[in-house]
Amino acid sequence: MKTFYITTPIYYPSSNLHIGNSYTTVAADAVARYKRMRGYDVMFLTGLDEHGQKIAQTAEKEGVTPQEHVDRICKSTKELWKLLNISYDKFIRTTDDYHVKSVQKIFKELYDKGEIYKSEYKGMYCTPCEAFWTKTQLVDGKCPDCGREVTEMSEEAYFFRLSKYADRLLELYKSNPDFLQPASRVNEMINNFIKPGLEDLCVSRTSVKWGIPVDFDPEHVIYVWIDALSNYITALGYGSDDDSLYKKYWPADVHLMAKDIVRFHSIIWPAILMALGEPLPKKIFAHGWLMFDGDKMSKSKGNVVDPVVLSERYSVDAIRYYLLKEIPFGADGSFTNRAFINRINSDLANDLGNLVSRSVSMAVKYFGGSIPQTREGGEYDDDLMSTAAQVKTEVEKYLDELQFAKALTSLWRLVSRANKYIDETSPWVLGKDESKKDRLACVIYNLCETLRIISVLLTPFMPQTAESIQKQIGVSENEVTWDSTQSFGVHKGSGISKAENLFPRLDTQKELEELQALLEKSNKQSAKAADEKPADEKEEKPQIDIDDFLKSELTVCRVTDCQKIEKADKLLKFTLFDGVSERTVVSGIAKYYSPDELKGHNVIVVTNLKPAKLRGVESNGMILSADTPDGGIKVVFADGIPAGSKLR
Ligand code: MSP
Repeated sequence: MKTFYITTPIYYPSSNLHIGNSYTTVAADAVARYKRMRGYDVMFLTGLDEHGQKIAQTAEKEGVTPQEHVDRICKSTKELWKLLNISYDKFIRTTDDYHVKSVQKIFKELYDKGEIYKSEYKGMYCTPCEAFWTKTQLVDGKCPDCGREVTEMSEEAYFFRLSKYADRLLELYKSNPDFLQPASRVNEMINNFIKPGLEDLCVSRTSVKWGIPVDFDPEHVIYVWIDALSNYITALGYGSDDDSLYKKYWPADVHLMAKDIVRFHSIIWPAILMALGEPLPKKIFAHGWLMFDGDKMSKSKGNVVDPVVLSERYSVDAIRYYLLKEIPFGADGSFTNRAFINRINSDLANDLGNLVSRSVSMAVKYFGGSIPQTREGGEYDDDLMSTAAQVKTEVEKYLDELQFAKALTSLWRLVSRANKYIDETSPWVLGKDESKKDRLACVIYNLCETLRIISVLLTPFMPQTAESIQKQIGVSENEVTWDSTQSFGVHKGSGISKAENLFPRLDTQKELEELQALLEKSNKQSAKAADEKPADEKEEKPQIDIDDFLKSELTVCRVTDCQKIEKADKLLKFTLFDGVSERTVVSGIAKYYSPDELKGHNVIVVTNLKPAKLRGVESNGMILSADTPDGGIKVVFADGIPAGSKLR
């Protein structure tokens, strides 16, 4: 079986991975899914880059050990990948024991071969980037990557003989133009790094403690980038007793990343592999930078787009579609709320959603979900079929080239062709004439076949949507193979049933306001959690008189019943005994508590709040709860205080 090995960078542990970080992973997932469907034995690797000074500093600030810190973040990172449907095969952590041992072995081997030697380091170090720079590489005396201050450092250190690989690297780019893509990155590497002169690379630190020690000189900790880059082979068992996966999958077919870390992957990484005498990865592909409204996303600016917020409101597939469609892979792009909502409305609700809904509704309306087998050919059919065949070939070509946006544009050509086919054949007219029943069956059958083909070609990009289309048109697993998209005539015609609309149309203006408010709230919460809230965003409320406070009636109430509200993920409906009678209160805490956790407890309620309707339920009061620093919510319990007691 042909193998395919794809990797994302391993991420620095971050408590709020944003949509920019998710970009590489979503793209890699689309490729991995596609290759699996094409019959490849795929290894899709992602993980966490858990060592380095910055991580130790963050842990210290939080009052936990670095290991505790990374363990916590590992959990939330895996949860995010699960939410985004990332089908990775292996998740590596650089604190994993096997990785630590292999990296030590790699370092020793390079040292034994004379590729690493001990000397004295003097240079400029950027702590946030964990990168050393020569004075000539600095821009205005600052780090050329992030623009922050660098510090001069001098210490005994180990060096990797990077300088001797300059010619071999130039030769590599020249003889293998596919190695580094997009091609523009090659000139960047040559002009900015290789031509000015490659210097030997400092690959150990004595001031950093949180890292992998050099086993034969434990005062020294291995430079994080040597540790991190090695993950691509240690994950496969390189340097361990069992390197069968390494033999099977290496060299990688593609390392995906954003453009900021190309230097490490296209200069340092191949040089290390050359020094080890191992084969080089086949391709390094660097995508562009994802910004928010044209501005760099950053926690301190409070403009981070949280994928969890988006997926809860719009679905994971809407995010995946946007990321892969809106930005040509390789170029910089922006996330804007308006463009996102427009994409959902035009491409997903209008084009795709409508096609599915119209086709399936007609199959149910005219044939009760089972289309008779008598089928005549007719006008427009050939064009629909040949469009499907062309689109399949194009999607394959573009996915092979990692041109996701082009692949989706091509796929939407088939969506539009099918919508046009409905208008051209007017099934509602055919349906009125008994003698046209065969033609009607043929039209609806062709639509179901088109949907089947669309759903298969859509799977790498939007797996949940594809599955939902397949459920509605009633196709079985063996009918949804990639090869089955070759032609029409696979669908048996039965089992079609209508489900809810895939993507309900959104009211753009209202949605924009609500989305903006949601993202602002999530940014405030994470800023609070990270204790780095921008000064101008502090929620300082004006002082009030005691009389103002006394206007609120606060009563201890017992939770006699608590239920989920159907179709409202966030709301719980409470029946509360306030010492005199029962009242209903709705509260948005379903994400944080199950009904059973609250029943029987006493809580504090604002009992003189004006009634408000939430999802059709009248709420008479508000349960007091607290926003916790980690972005959660905790109810203030008053157990032990009798129901009906007033607070003052
Ligand atoms: N730990 C290193 C990678 C080591 S790989 C041997 C690292 N980690 S990172 O968490 O900072 O970044 C992970 C990936 O996310 C990188 O490809 C990075 O460029 C990408 N992105 C982070 N923010 C991004 C955007 N706003 N837009 C696009 N990609 C972004 O670098």
